[in-house]
Amino acid sequence: MKVKVQEGKTYFLCSCSLSDKYPFCNGAHKGSGKRPVRFKAEKDGMIEFLNNEEIVEA
Ligand code: FES
Repeated sequence: MKVKVQEGKTYFLCSCSLSDKYPFCNGAHKGSGKRPVRFKAEKDGMIEFLNNEEIVEA
């Protein structure tokens, strides 16, 4: 899933697949042993979150 990001903003991406706001973390990971993946955008653009762990420019 591709996500639009803005330079300077920090995003927390869901690594547990439990978030109803996926690909963003909404706190649903609590108790799952998983933690969100933090990403700070260095420029405006699109990213893609692959396999709940890898972030690539899209
Ligand atoms: S809800 Fe999935 S990591 Fe937070």
